[in-house]
Amino acid sequence: MPRTVAVEGAQVSIPNEFIEMRDVAIAAAREAGTAIRAVAEQGIKEIIFKGEGKRDLVTEADKRSEQIIIDAITRSYPDHQILAEEGTSAGGGGAYRWIIDPLDGTTNFAHHYPLYCVSIAVERAGEPLIGVVFAPYMNELFVAIKGGGATLNSAPIAVSGVTDLIGGLLCTGFPYRLDGPTNNLVNWGNFVLRTQATRRDGAAALDLCYVAAGRFDGFWELNLQPWDMAAGALMIQEAGGTISDPYGNPFRIDGHDIVGSNGHLHEKMLDVLAMSKNGHGAGKPNAETEQRAKPAGADATRDETTA
Ligand code: IPD
Ligand code: CA
Ligand code: CA
Repeated sequence: MPRTVAVEGAQVSIPNEFIEMRDVAIAAAREAGTAIRAVAEQGIKEIIFKGEGKRDLVTEADKRSEQIIIDAITRSYPDHQILAEEGTSAGGGGAYRWIIDPLDGTTNFAHHYPLYCVSIAVERAGEPLIGVVFAPYMNELFVAIKGGGATLNSAPIAVSGVTDLIGGLLCTGFPYRLDGPTNNLVNWGNFVLRTQATRRDGAAALDLCYVAAGRFDGFWELNLQPWDMAAGALMIQEAGGTISDPYGNPFRIDGHDIVGSNGHLHEKMLDVLAMSKNGHGAGKPNAETEQRAKPAGADATRDETTA
């Protein structure tokens, strides 16, 4: 029997299997978060650099967290597909796919900056159905279920009501490789000049949840991976916000780019991104708005070499 829940006063029917998967995700995220905190308290012993350069880190906490989450999922759903950042793939040909960032905000974690989280999503046919993001240092658990709303520590959350960029607190992030055309630096300047303030907090999954909770009014980032976005994107949708790509096209889990907002600021954010070829060009800071249309071959300019 599907379970009926109240969302904004209306009774909504949620399939039992969604509720069960959500509960598995919550338990796994909490257990993984506890393990991450234990590493922080005992001292991080291993920091490895992924790829070239000294920016993209992985620690024993990332790996321990991933193992805990994979074990929990495969125990309950041996035939589900799994995509996890640190390389564990498991499962069979089931329709559901779990998308896992075992530690989003590893650089923050490595520096004892407390904004980091575990992110777990479940999708089917490209549609996020469940999102669970747990920030262990803050002990904040964000949960969204398709059609069932979004919560923070079990209390419903909603996006903010800010309607002007100059009244808005926005957030973004930067790729590990900064020499490509999508390094986001021009967009950063364009938003700083037009908003009340713009932050770079360093954990995309958590940043998206902060939009859902009304702490940020909007977030954009380029060159992300499915595990950075899947859970947080659903969180914003279920909290009443809007998500898209920088052109205003529907958000895609494997689309690399995301704009998430409270809805009121969405078009305004897309207009700012249009100043630099929808976020993908060098452009000029503070330039006039260009037409917001997908330029032919826009995808060819993408810097694919990122985390
Ligand atoms: C990174 C964080 C960061 C974002 C990077 C991501 P990681 O994930 O979300 O905020 O700017 O693009 O790769 O490496 O800490 O899991
Ligand atoms: Ca990660
Ligand atoms: Ca990440």
